Amino acid sequence: MKRSIAALCLLASGALAQNVEQLWKNNCASCHRQGEGGERNTPTLLTAEAFDEKLDRRMFEAIRDGKQHAAMKAFDATLSDEQAWALVNYIRELQFRAVRSGAIPLGAPKAKEGIRATRRASFKVEPFVDTGLSTPWSVEFLPGGEALVTERDGSLRLVRDGRPGAPVGGTPQVYARGQGGLLDAAIHPEHAANGWIYLSFSDPRGDDRGRTVAFTKIVRGRIKDNAWTDQETIFAAKPEHYSGGDLHFGCRIAFGPRVDGRRHVFFAIGERGRGEFAQDLTRPQGKVFRTWDDGSIPDDNPFLDTPDAYRQIWSFGHRNPQGLVFDLKGDLYDTEHAPRGGDELNRVVRGANYGWPVVSFGINYGGTPFKTPWASEGKSFIMPVTRWMPSIAACGLTLVDGNAFPDWKGDMLAGGLAGSCVHRVRVRDGVLVEREEILHGMGRVRDVVCGPDGLIYVVLNDPDRIVRLVPAG
Ligand code: HEC
Repeated sequence: MKRSIAALCLLASGALAQNVEQLWKNNCASCHRQGEGGERNTPTLLTAEAFDEKLDRRMFEAIRDGKQHAAMKAFDATLSDEQAWALVNYIRELQFRAVRSGAIPLGAPKAKEGIRATRRASFKVEPFVDTGLSTPWSVEFLPGGEALVTERDGSLRLVRDGRPGAPVGGTPQVYARGQGGLLDAAIHPEHAANGWIYLSFSDPRGDDRGRTVAFTKIVRGRIKDNAWTDQETIFAAKPEHYSGGDLHFGCRIAFGPRVDGRRHVFFAIGERGRGEFAQDLTRPQGKVFRTWDDGSIPDDNPFLDTPDAYRQIWSFGHRNPQGLVFDLKGDLYDTEHAPRGGDELNRVVRGANYGWPVVSFGINYGGTPFKTPWASEGKSFIMPVTRWMPSIAACGLTLVDGNAFPDWKGDMLAGGLAGSCVHRVRVRDGVLVEREEILHGMGRVRDVVCGPDGLIYVVLNDPDRIVRLVPAG
């Protein structure tokens, strides 16, 4: 787009360093106040209609180009595209405060006599595991009915009748710092016949300067007499790609449909705080990977001919994916964390680029502008199916494939850590149909799983426990 000399001067004078609060105060608040408007015939932005994500682009263009026939002038001479987009983020934050205060009626329903009535189903929240867990990260169910729970500090426990057992002995040593540790557990769909359990974790090693560095590793093994045995490596990064720091390990694991008697396994790994590596196929950061279930590399993976590429890569340009699931049609979806604003639900397709860090819905944590969601010329990225502005800190994603909630069948449920929420997302053929918050305020949501009984299990941190949603009324 064309920019005036005045805009270039502003950019040069460091206006980009302004955070959204300042940008709003200096340019917008005189008419819009804190979203409620009122000055100079300015309408409120704090309505359910205006909170709709379909308006993202229109809002951005209104800020850049102005509103004809209204007092609002064009800001394209004084604000960069990134600043205009950051202001859309800020408006979303103002609107979201109105959601939480109840002024915009889009928050999760409050319990009335223990029953929460959402748009398509009513449920009660029951305890499943109340005590004995420390930062649980994932829950899965074995064919015999036991649950398998990972804890971030490295413990793997079997849960019987709501009581966690002693940690399974001999599980891998993990790098339990910050976001690192024991992450996902995934039970092979043919577990009854083969016994395999897959784990993802932050794998520590010493580098040549004697520091401890880490990267996400995937192994499989079996549990016999509460001990971890038969371990095999499914994926390990090259030693030179391990790094210090405790950010963005991912990781979720999902099994693909059966092909000729075996299965693909997919896993999503974060970019370890190095956004630029997400675009580099010779590095393992910020990728979704596909192998066979024994770790061997399928001969139709997309980057087999790219020199020095990790041959397991399925898609790239991801930030920190912590949700991964197949829908009823066999399409793969992930949820991933953005910085401030702009978590994503993506349909993950072969060989595609999801754009991080070239494009983003989010802004920097301190509130300074970052990018816009739209690609610059000559680039093409896959847009998310839906985005969360503000971020929920998306973690855990499940498909409702049981019968306990027939009106949710085929929908996905996404958890949010910072958002302390569960959202129901209905997607058909890759297109968002509806999105609804169904639960809020019970703790940080680390994982959401539709159990073999069709009930929805929610793994919570702060307080550390697992609850389940049971149909009611
Ligand atoms: C002089 C008053 C004024 C200022 C300053 C102003 N606006 Fe507006 N804005 C308006 C009015 C009036 C409307 C309603 C226009 C309409 O409905 O056609 C509006 C509408 C909007 C809309 C809704 C557009 C749509 O199509 O739905 C957005 C978003 C918006 N303003 C953002 C901003 C931002 C961000 C700033 C600061 C960079 C800003 N405005 C500055 C008066 C103002």
